[in-house]
Amino acid sequence: MGQPTPARWPLLALLVLLPPAQPRVLSRAHCPEPCSCPPDGALRCPGPLAGLTRLSLTYLPIKVIPSQAFRGLNEVVKIEISQSDSLEKVEANAFDNLLHLSEILIQNTKNLASIEPGAFTNLPRLKYLSICNTGLQQLPDVTKIFSSEFNFILEICDNLHITTIPGNAFQGMNNESITLKLYGNGFEEIQSHAFNGTTLISLELKENEHLKKMHNGAFRGATGPSILDISSTKLQALPGYGLEPIQTLIATASYSLKKLPSREKFTNLLDAILTYPSHCCAFRNSPTKEQNFSFSIFENFSKQCESTARKPNNETLSKSRAYGHQQRRKDC
Ligand SMILES: *[C@@H]1O[C@H](CO)[C@@H](O)[C@H](O)[C@H]1NC(C)=O
Ligand SMILES: *[C@@H]1O[C@H](CO)[C@@H](O)[C@H](O)[C@H]1NC(C)=O
Ligand SMILES: *[C@@H]1O[C@H](CO)[C@@H](O)[C@H](O)[C@H]1NC(C)=O
Ligand SMILES: *[C@@H]1O[C@H](CO)[C@@H](O)[C@H](O)[C@H]1NC(C)=O
Ligand SMILES: *[C@@H]1O[C@H](CO)[C@@H](O)[C@H](O)[C@H]1NC(C)=O
Repeated sequence: MGQPTPARWPLLALLVLLPPAQPRVLSRAHCPEPCSCPPDGALRCPGPLAGLTRLSLTYLPIKVIPSQAFRGLNEVVKIEISQSDSLEKVEANAFDNLLHLSEILIQNTKNLASIEPGAFTNLPRLKYLSICNTGLQQLPDVTKIFSSEFNFILEICDNLHITTIPGNAFQGMNNESITLKLYGNGFEEIQSHAFNGTTLISLELKENEHLKKMHNGAFRGATGPSILDISSTKLQALPGYGLEPIQTLIATASYSLKKLPSREKFTNLLDAILTYPSHCCAFRNSPTKEQNFSFSIFENFSKQCESTARKPNNETLSKSRAYGHQQRRKDC
């Protein structure tokens, strides 16, 4: 076809300048309608905008999500903010009165150090809130969300600087039922009444590798959980109060948990996956006559549970469902 004519040169130059195979970060920066995203400034996405149900904001150059940032976006169902290292702060009432909003994701914003109290306010349809891999030092305030969705899922994960779950942390978030997926954070401690006022379907605390202390009254004021996962934590003990609702207990790689509360406290347990065979000791004695159906399920569990090694007497149970380090097992 010969040499490019001069008229073709500008097009070729443009193709060379826009590398489609390996887009650079800057070329991914995206400020969709109706937003404005001034570098080092505040995000504004004023509504209404008919038909806008999903807003995906990535590689934002902005520093702040201010109060009423999404005001008037009354059809929006999902807002996702991710891969934005410039973001430092989410102000009070940033997500306010968005009556159809069902999902909020804030992820991979490592310089996000502050979400002000009341940042999430009056979001009655909210069903999923995920805040992961940020620089937050405190659990974000979720107590003004007032969602009435069934099985609301709150995911707080990989926030290495959050050290505490304080009392009443989830009060007011949702009035029906919730799943808390709180994993991979910097938690060291869970305080008394942490789950007060919630109906907990499932509480996932796995991979909080520094989590050592769960206050004895952590479950006070809560209904549930049915499922509790404390795998890969440093918890040394479970709270003495509020274990009755637990149907499934998962505690793999829980090497600091040397002892479980007596099985009388687990009146509804159906299944347990544990670290040490010795954990089964708590469950070993055979149920007495007056114990009822839940205890017969419990006995069933115990039968699957027993220590693979030590059989101090003929009544002990035979098979192990206890995973983990047999060399570290303790005598019962
Ligand atoms: C939760 O709140 C909604 C809306 O106010 C209400 O209709 C519903 O009955 C409440 N549910 C419970 C369990 O209180
Ligand atoms: C637990 O929550 C209730 C409201 O649901 C509140 O009245 C009470 O003060 C809370 N208890 C503690 C110890 O914070
Ligand atoms: C079974 O055990 C539960 C929990 O201890 C108790 O509330 C319930 O009354 C018992 N049911 C029977 C039939 O004994
Ligand atoms: C006891 O365990 C067996 C085998 O896992 C299961 O099929 C059965 O339903 C259990 N019984 C009760 C009462 O949970
Ligand atoms: C328990 O003892 C009885 C009678 O002494 C015996 O028949 C049975 O095989 C023993 N069971 C086990 C698991 O050792």
